[in-house]
Amino acid sequence: MSPDLPGAPARTGRTDRPRREVVSFVRRGTRLSHSRQAAWDRSRERWVLDLPRGERDTLPDVDGPLDPRAVFGRTADLVVEVGSGLGENIAAAAAAHPERDHLAFEVYLPGLAQTLERLEREGAGGNVRLLPFDALHALGTLLPPASVHEMWVFFPDPWHKAKHRKRRLVAPPFLDVVAPLLAPGGVLRTATDWAHYALTMREALDADPRFENLHPDGSGPTGTATDPIPEELPLQGWAPRFDGRVVTSFERKAGDAGRLVWELAHRRTERTSTS
Ligand SMILES: C[S@@+](CC[C@H](N)C(=O)[O-])C[C@H]1O[C@@H](n2cnc3c(N)ncnc32)[C@H](O)[C@@H]1O
Repeated sequence: MSPDLPGAPARTGRTDRPRREVVSFVRRGTRLSHSRQAAWDRSRERWVLDLPRGERDTLPDVDGPLDPRAVFGRTADLVVEVGSGLGENIAAAAAAHPERDHLAFEVYLPGLAQTLERLEREGAGGNVRLLPFDALHALGTLLPPASVHEMWVFFPDPWHKAKHRKRRLVAPPFLDVVAPLLAPGGVLRTATDWAHYALTMREALDADPRFENLHPDGSGPTGTATDPIPEELPLQGWAPRFDGRVVTSFERKAGDAGRLVWELAHRRTERTSTS
């Protein structure tokens, strides 16, 4: 823990028991290979915002949001990726856009360590930080209102069994967290390779007046999918492939398995509530 991290709020000192909320991830292994451990040891302090944690180690125990200006030492557009996996996108984005700042939320320790290896390899600078926290339950605490220029959620865990669908991240509770964090005109970009999850996303976003679909007439992906396409899945309203997104190992596996990519882009409207 780094209590003196620039921009970090104070610890609350509260010891409430963690609430038993539904989470959108599974805790997979935390063991690190030799090279990932070495990258973690070398570069964690540089790029990981390792804030004090509460009783649940995926939740920060802080009293108020980070100050992005202090974290990055400047004011710049902020891009936030939720579920950055092995870090392909956040590392590529930070390298391609030195004028922007980038935050990545990820709970999978080996993924974070691999992201550090990637940042080292690319000679990344000070415009990227990793947050080892559950974004759904920590974003609203850690980021100030209207501070995010773009929020990205690419290939979130699919939770394709019916009994697990309540764990899908891109759903109304997540939109309640994201909407106030987006700056006016800020954009939420989402993509999934599971047609049924694409329907979950559309149902949530189409019903939410705080978000405006940037591609109301856009057609969906073409080709034959190996997963079932729900009849209710709209034919239009899909975004073209976002050219700021690199092909990650998850997307490659989806393509190998014959699934299509359903992509969306929504802008925050001026509305502040869903009614
Ligand atoms: C299927 S992977 C996709 C990774 C990456 N976005 C990509 O396109 O390759 C989904 C990732 O989201 C992470 N994740 C799921 N729920 C999360 C949450 N609430 N907060 C932070 N990370 C989360 C998982 O740990 C996992 O690494």
